[in-house]
Amino acid sequence: MNIRTALDTAKIEKIDAELLLSFVLNCGRASIRAYPERELTFEQKTKFLELLQRRVHGEPIAYLLGHKEFWSLDFIVSPDVLIPRADTELLVEMALETIPSKKAQRILDLGTGSGAVALAIASERPSCTIVATDNSAEALQIAKLNAKHLQIHNVEFALGYWFDALSGGLNQPYDIIVSNPPYVANFDPHLEQGDLRFEPNQALVAGMEGMDDLHNIIANAPKFLVPQGQLLVEHGYNQEKLVAKEFEQAGFAEIVCYSDLSGIPRVTSGTV
Ligand SMILES: C[S@@+](CC[C@H](N)C(=O)[O-])C[C@H]1O[C@@H](n2cnc3c(N)ncnc32)[C@H](O)[C@@H]1O
Repeated sequence: MNIRTALDTAKIEKIDAELLLSFVLNCGRASIRAYPERELTFEQKTKFLELLQRRVHGEPIAYLLGHKEFWSLDFIVSPDVLIPRADTELLVEMALETIPSKKAQRILDLGTGSGAVALAIASERPSCTIVATDNSAEALQIAKLNAKHLQIHNVEFALGYWFDALSGGLNQPYDIIVSNPPYVANFDPHLEQGDLRFEPNQALVAGMEGMDDLHNIIANAPKFLVPQGQLLVEHGYNQEKLVAKEFEQAGFAEIVCYSDLSGIPRVTSGTV
C-alpha cells in the first residue's frame, strides 16, 4: 500500500486521513502530498488501518494523535482530559486583557484539564504565578506533563474539589480567577454526539441545567479574590442570563458577557 492508496481507502475526511498518515509515517502533511508513491511498511499499514477504524467509529482525532493545538501551543491530550477548544481561547484573551504584562500577579485556573488555559496564560505572562487545579488526578498528570513539554515553569498544580484544592500558601487571595468548568446539562442530547461521546463525563456535565459547577465557583470566588479582583468564566451559549444573575447574587460589579467570533455569548467576567 502506498500513500495514495491509503488516502483513497480512507472513508473519512481527507484532512483527518492525512493527519493520521502523517502521524503513522512521522512526517508533515506536505510530505504526504509531495510523495504519493511512497510505500508504507507492514507495521505502518497495520497502524494506519487500526487508527482509521477507530476514527470511523467516531474517536476524536485529537485522542488518536495524542495532541491538540491551543493558543498556538502543542498540548498532549488523552481520554482523561477534555480536548481544548478553539472557543476557549476567548477566555484566555479576555483574561490577558486584564493582566498587566509586567506585574507579578496571582492567577487561579479552576478545572484545568490538559492545562490549556493556565499554560496559555502562563506562556504570555512569565512574571505571574498561576495555580491550576482539578479534581481528576489523571487530568492533573496530563497538565503537569504539558507544563514540562512546553517548558513552562510558572504554574503550580493542586488536586481537589474546586476551592477545596487550595491549602497553605495557595489559599492567599488571587488577582484573577479563570475557569472553564463543566456546563452541559444532564441528558443534553449533544452528549450523544461527536467528540463529546468520548470525553470524560466529569469534564462536561454539571446538573440538570448545567449550572451546578458555575454556581459553586461564582458563589465562592469572592472569598478568594483581592479587592478589585476579577472572575472570568466560560459558559454555555444559553446560560448568559443565569450566569449574570449568579454574579450579581455573589456581589460582583462590572459584569460583562463576551461573545465568541460566531457571536455566541461565551465568557462572563465580573469584579469584586
Ligand atoms: C470543561 S473541562 C475544562 C478543561 C480545560 N480548562 C479546558 O478549558 O480545556 C472542566 C474541567 O473541570 C474539572 N472538574 C470537574 N469537576 C470538578 C471539581 N468539582 N473540582 C475541580 N475540577 C473539576 C474536570 O476534571 C475538567 O478537567
